[in-house]
Amino acid sequence: MNTFYEKLLKCAEAVSEKISFRPEIGLVLGSGLGDYAETMQIEETLEYADIEGFPISTVSGHKGRFLFGYVKGVPVVAMQGRVHYYEGYPMQDVVLPIRLMGKMGVKKVILTNAAGGVNYDFHPGTLMIITDHITSLVPSPLIGPNEESLGTRFPDMSEVYSRRLRDIIKKAGENTGVSLKEGVYVQFTGPAYETPAEIRMCRAIGGDAAGMSTACEAIAARHMGLEVCGISCITNLAAGMSDRPLDHKEVQETADKVAADFTRLITESIRLMGQLD
Ligand code: HPA
Repeated sequence: MNTFYEKLLKCAEAVSEKISFRPEIGLVLGSGLGDYAETMQIEETLEYADIEGFPISTVSGHKGRFLFGYVKGVPVVAMQGRVHYYEGYPMQDVVLPIRLMGKMGVKKVILTNAAGGVNYDFHPGTLMIITDHITSLVPSPLIGPNEESLGTRFPDMSEVYSRRLRDIIKKAGENTGVSLKEGVYVQFTGPAYETPAEIRMCRAIGGDAAGMSTACEAIAARHMGLEVCGISCITNLAAGMSDRPLDHKEVQETADKVAADFTRLITESIRLMGQLD
C-alpha cells in the first residue's frame, strides 16, 4: 500500500474515533476568511494537532482545525486553515486534508482563497468564481504511485470547477446582491509574491488571479470524484500593477473588509447546494 494512502487511512480512522458528525459539503477557508466558521451552528471541533500525522499550517491568519456543523441546515465541515506547498510539505500532504474530507463522506467542496488580481477589471475586494485553473507551475499532487481505490491514474480535468456549482454561486450572488467576477486561477508555489514579469506571464497564459493554494486541492478532489467549486477573494492587485509593494497584512485587511459579503455569499451558496441531489 502507498505510504500516503496509509497515512490518509490512519487520519480517517482518528477522525471517525473522535467525530460522529457526517458532513455533506467541505468548505476550505482561505487567508483572512477563516472567521466565516464562527457563523456556523457548530456541533463538533477537531484541532489538526489532535490528528496524528496531519500536516499543520504555520501561516499567521490560518488557524488549524476542522469545524463540523450546520449552515442553513446543511451539514458542513469547514477547514479553518489549510497547508501550503511553500511550508515545505510534499504535495501529497498538502492535499491530505481534502482527501480526508472525502473520506468523511463529503461529496462537494467549496475552496476559497485570497489571491492577487491579474485581470485589469479586478480590484481589491473583488470576489471571483474560479472557472478553471493553471497548475503547470507547481508539482501535481497526483505524482507518485496511484491509489486506484481513490481514483484513476489519469483523471479527466476538463471541468474541474463544476458548472452547476458555479451556476449556484452566481444565483447566490444575485440573491444576496454580492457582485461576482469569473476567472482562471493560476497557482504559483510562493511564498514570495510573484514578480511583475511573472504576473505578465500569468496574464499572457490566460490567468486572471494568482495564488499559492487551491488548484492542487481541486485536482486531488476531482481525482476522488468530488464535485468542486472555488471562490477567490482578490485582496490586492498583483505585482507590478500598482505602486505599492505587496504584503500579507494588506491581504488580511482586504479579506476582513469583504468578510460580510463573503459570509452572505457562502451561506446562500451552501443553502442552494443543500437542495441538490
Ligand atoms: N500573489 C499570490 N498569492 C496571493 C496574492 C498575490 O498577489 N495575494 C494573496 N495571495
